[in-house]
Amino acid sequence: MALLNILEFPDPRLRTVAKQISNVTGKIANLADDMLETMYAAPGIGLAASQVNVHLRMLVVDVSADNTSPLVLINPQIIAREGEITTNEGCLSIPGFYEPVFRAEKIEVSAVDREGNPFTLAAEDLLAVCIQHEMDHLEGKLFVDYISPIKRQLIRKRLLRQQKQRD
Ligand code: NI
Repeated sequence: MALLNILEFPDPRLRTVAKQISNVTGKIANLADDMLETMYAAPGIGLAASQVNVHLRMLVVDVSADNTSPLVLINPQIIAREGEITTNEGCLSIPGFYEPVFRAEKIEVSAVDREGNPFTLAAEDLLAVCIQHEMDHLEGKLFVDYISPIKRQLIRKRLLRQQKQRD
C-alpha cells in the first residue's frame, strides 16, 4: 500500500471528467486500497480517484467514527434522490475551508465494488452528502463551484499563497 499525493485547488487537473472503468482488475483494487489508506491518513471521510490524479470513476468513503466502514464505489450512479440537506462541506483538495452546500438528503446509488460485483446502496445524511461530493469530483466539479464567485476567488488566492510557500 502507498500514500498518494492529493491534488489541490485550483489545480486544473481536478477539472478532468473521469472515465468509466470497464474492468475491475487487480490494479484497480490496489488503487482502491491506496486511496483508502490516503484518505484515512489525511484524515478525511471521502476521496475520489480524480483527487489523486487518476481520472477513472472510482471513489472511497468511510463516514464511521472509527474507520471501520470503508466503501469502494466504482462507476457510481445515483438512481434515486429524496429530500434536501445543507451541510458545511470540506474537501481534501481544498484544505482548511468549509462552506455550506445544498444536496439531496437521501440517495440510492448503484456501483461496482472492488471485487467487480455490482451492488446498490441506500445512503442518507452524511454518507449521502459524502457520496454526492465525491461523485462531483468525477465530473471535475468541486464544492467551491456552489459558493459565491467572490468567496471562491478568496479561497483560490489563499490556497495559491500556501502552495507557493510550501514549494
Ligand atoms: Ni472533495
